[in-house]
Amino acid sequence: MSQKVRTAVFPAGGLGTRFLPATKVIPKEMLSLVDKPIIQYGVEEAIEAGIEHIIFVTGRGKGAMEDHFDISYELDATLERKGKKELLEISRKISSMARISYVRQKEPLGLGHAVLCAKQLVGKEPFAVLLPDDVIDAETPCIGQMMDVYNQRGGSVLATMTIEGPSISAYGVLAGSQDPTNPRIYNCTGMVEKPKFEVAPSKQAIIGRYVLTPRVFELLEQTTPGQGGEIQLTDGILALLNHEQVFGYTFDGKRFDAGDKFGMLQATVEFALKRDDFGAKFRDYLKTLPL
Ligand code: UTP
Repeated sequence: MSQKVRTAVFPAGGLGTRFLPATKVIPKEMLSLVDKPIIQYGVEEAIEAGIEHIIFVTGRGKGAMEDHFDISYELDATLERKGKKELLEISRKISSMARISYVRQKEPLGLGHAVLCAKQLVGKEPFAVLLPDDVIDAETPCIGQMMDVYNQRGGSVLATMTIEGPSISAYGVLAGSQDPTNPRIYNCTGMVEKPKFEVAPSKQAIIGRYVLTPRVFELLEQTTPGQGGEIQLTDGILALLNHEQVFGYTFDGKRFDAGDKFGMLQATVEFALKRDDFGAKFRDYLKTLPL
């Protein structure tokens, strides 16, 4: 029987340079998608999937994130005094979402390094990693789908999405074969970072959701830093392949790169159109634009 996945790590130590100038002071994880900071989408996904403990790996200037998931006495008291019950409910719900721990990544030395910073807090258990920039719209939480694969097969699981054509070159691409019994599962044999379209090993682009076994910590510790002194998570996962099975899993849902200006715009439009309170109004408004 596989050990239960109880913990999710959210690496949020990056600088968010793709979203400058918005991210000069405000952490990109706190940028709003419709009416929620993007990190809250990931946290809600993890909680819905049954995650009990959330670990944020933060860096300098990320205090707003800690405040967001904490109790805001002044705000709650004001809302209570004014009788704004619904808003009070929204504010209180955020601070009681899950057990949250913070660990600081002193320097942004890469995603692998950020994950390694969570080693002591995770302990010797399998764990989930969610990159907050990747916002996923799915019927069943993406990380929950992956935890199901882990529960059935063990090993580590990487979320992938199928990309047709040359835009695959913007991603890390999975090498491996499709599982004969489940076409969503790939038996991973390797990964290639941003390959040319002609030599891409598959159409499966790796996105920001992972279920990893704790062995990855040891392997990341042994990884020699690459360019700019960074430790890449990919190198840790490639090393895992020498010890245990790694699966790719084509999740069911749609992923948006909200850490990128264009991706954020796409997510904003699609999430806004789905809103019960103003989706129809927004659709009518879009129709009036001279597109
Ligand atoms: P990105 O490369 O997308 O994030 O890293 P970035 O560096 O913040 O953004 P840009 O490219 O400059 O706009 C993917 C994830 O890894 C985290 C980021 O916070 C993001 O969630 N990360 C990256 C860290 O936590 N630490 C790092 O040293 C690097």
